Amino acid sequence: MIALTFVASIMILFVTILQYREEAEDYHKKRLLRKEKAVKAHINSILENTSYEVKTEKLKYIFKVNGNMRGLSSISELSRIHKMPINLYDLNGNLIVSSLWQFKNNQHDSVRHLSPGILTAIDKSPNKRYVIKHNGKEGEYQSSFTYIYDKKFKPIAILNLPYLADSTFYKKELEEFLKNLATIYLIMFILAIFISYLLSRYITKSLNTVNHMLRQTSFSKENQKIILKNPNDEINQLIESYNQMVDKLEESAKKLAQTEREEAWRNMARQVAHEIKNPLTPMRLNIQSFQMTFDPDDPDIKQKFNDFSQMLIEQIDLMSKIASAFSDFAKMPQAQLLQNDLVAVVSSVLKLYDPRQVKFVSNKDQISFHFDKSQMQRVITNLVKNALQSVPDGREPDILVSIKDLNDKIIISVTDNGSGIPVEYQSRIFEPKFTTKSSGMGLGLAIVRKIVENHNGKIYFKTHQGEGTTFIIEFDKNYN
Ligand SMILES: Nc1ncnc2c1ncn2[C@@H]1O[C@H](COP(=O)(O)OP(=O)(O)OP(=O)(O)O)[C@@H](O)[C@H]1O
Ligand SMILES: [Mg+2]
Repeated sequence: MIALTFVASIMILFVTILQYREEAEDYHKKRLLRKEKAVKAHINSILENTSYEVKTEKLKYIFKVNGNMRGLSSISELSRIHKMPINLYDLNGNLIVSSLWQFKNNQHDSVRHLSPGILTAIDKSPNKRYVIKHNGKEGEYQSSFTYIYDKKFKPIAILNLPYLADSTFYKKELEEFLKNLATIYLIMFILAIFISYLLSRYITKSLNTVNHMLRQTSFSKENQKIILKNPNDEINQLIESYNQMVDKLEESAKKLAQTEREEAWRNMARQVAHEIKNPLTPMRLNIQSFQMTFDPDDPDIKQKFNDFSQMLIEQIDLMSKIASAFSDFAKMPQAQLLQNDLVAVVSSVLKLYDPRQVKFVSNKDQISFHFDKSQMQRVITNLVKNALQSVPDGREPDILVSIKDLNDKIIISVTDNGSGIPVEYQSRIFEPKFTTKSSGMGLGLAIVRKIVENHNGKIYFKTHQGEGTTFIIEFDKNYN
């Protein structure tokens, strides 16, 4: 907008100056032509009334510089009447008379003799007229040359009217106009700056709000609608679409949460049933075979009964272990985020392990932030347990637990010298129930990931086949 006003003002300025100049030139051209006509008519009337013979040689007598007996026919008189200098030349370009007394004394050749160029130019021009422009001290001169004819229409002399194109008037008017124009445009310019400032502020402000809200929009939390005071049409449409989207998003999130919950419960129920059924079959078979082979008279019966009971108790214990593992996983309580010292919590867990096998380093003596103490203990326990289990037989375990307190995040890493995670398992190890161990439940890493996510952190790993694995957890300090 500002640029437009500026360019427009420059263009108008340019066109105006051009227009004024053209008009002034046109005016002077016409005025010179009018004067020329008048002077010529006057000269013709003098020639008609003179007693001299009308021919070139006599002209200097007819138009004597300072008048003659008849008084009115002097060239000075003519010049006074028509208010401009008048020169008469013969056909060869030599000055005959001039109203400017200086010319007589002035020996300047270009005035006393017309150049041959001018003579031919007059002759060649279709209307036998030639105008040259030159700049003098007082301004621009337009000097016109035409023939004076006798009665038989034979040229006898060249009339020269040096006309001073006085443009002071035009210039003044132009100046006045430009001043007004400048004032108007200055006001418009300031107005344009002001309006565009307001407009852009208004538009960018509402757009910024929309932008801010869009950035914050997320599927996992409740989104605020945008309410703006008197927005314009386009922005209003944008806001309306955004608000509609928020509504839809909320609806879908609700639906999704519902289905997710149902799905999770179905899965859990299926898994619990499966795990409990597993030991039930061997138990049933054992009871049946015991029933069939039961012989009260058998001398070993006491021993056999003891073995049988022992086996049943083991199976029942296993079932109870499975049940509690699942219930642990299912009823993972909401994290209690309290200010705790991570170094203290981790080292208290690691006390339970052989310090030659599990080492601990921290870049600070104390790292305090908000986390759930018991859940963090479970994380460390699970990771260290996995690390120890990953070390193949015959290799001395060398586990390193490290914590780093950096500017914006806290990093926990557990590195082992185990066998690494085979590529085909890498994408599945965090799934509940995924295990490669005969004794494992496959819940360890699933629990770890859930806890880490409850703390707005992330977990990932780096592994090298046969050399070991590092599990890395990052917590964002700004979150906790
Ligand atoms: N440090 C590790 N090195 C190599 N493999 C690992 C490591 N940690 C986990 N894994 C692999 O990931 C699988 C899943 O681990 P997760 O802790 O979830 O279950 P689990 O240890 O098998 O059983 P649970 O922890 O329930 O007793 C493991 O069976 C193992 O194959
Ligand atoms: Mg485990």
